[in-house]
Amino acid sequence: MRTKIVAGNWKMNLDYFEGLNLFNEIVTLIKQEVTGKQEAIICSPYIHLHALANLVIDTEKVSVGAQNAHHAEAGAFTGEISAKMIHSVGAEYVILGHSERRQYFAEDGALLTKKVDIALAHHLTPIYCIGETLKERESHKHFDVIKKQLVESVFHLSAADFSKLILAYEPVWAIGTGVTASADQAQEIHAFIRKEIAAKYGKAVADGITILYGGSCNPKNAHELFAKHDIDGGLIGGASLKARDFVDILKAFN
Ligand code: PGA
Repeated sequence: MRTKIVAGNWKMNLDYFEGLNLFNEIVTLIKQEVTGKQEAIICSPYIHLHALANLVIDTEKVSVGAQNAHHAEAGAFTGEISAKMIHSVGAEYVILGHSERRQYFAEDGALLTKKVDIALAHHLTPIYCIGETLKERESHKHFDVIKKQLVESVFHLSAADFSKLILAYEPVWAIGTGVTASADQAQEIHAFIRKEIAAKYGKAVADGITILYGGSCNPKNAHELFAKHDIDGGLIGGASLKARDFVDILKAFN
């Protein structure tokens, strides 16, 4: 059985106190309502991480992650945050390869390879995001794009390291747009990703890896998405900023 996960990506939202309040609300609802084995990960801005990690030491159901990490170990990189720093405050995950980082911060495959490596070296689990743009889908390049993003940044890993990853398929055209990929469209890509992993690392690795769907996932569409064989949960942006919605998505597994 693969781990079922719903990860929240708060992006650049919430000041320190707003973040603490939202997190407390989420944890309270999860403790009251979530009885299954599914797990939540909250990927907050850096400023919240230490406080949030300290608030969940009594529950296995909620963990904390960052939304980015620098690719170097340490040094003269004013304003940057390293994987080691993130791990030192109690965070366990880091989102890497999000399309907003690829688009606005020019993060490419070579850079992301370094980020994946350094995150793993510091015991952070990368939530590695891949996904095609609308233009790429319309020109029927989406399978090629997805494969390239896998090959260039995570297929260099050993099977043991690759198995530590969480993957997230996030079609760029669905992020923050209110347009969700249909459950069938998402399943088609998830199955493709698993097939590529099986070809590279074997069926056991492919069957064991958690692949999340992201892009306008909400309490209304989560059930149908999560019911698909190869979709193991979601990476949630907008709806992760409302405790009720986020926890309802977490409860959407059958
Ligand atoms: P969204 O964002 O849920 O607001 O579409 C998803 C993401 O960017 O991870």
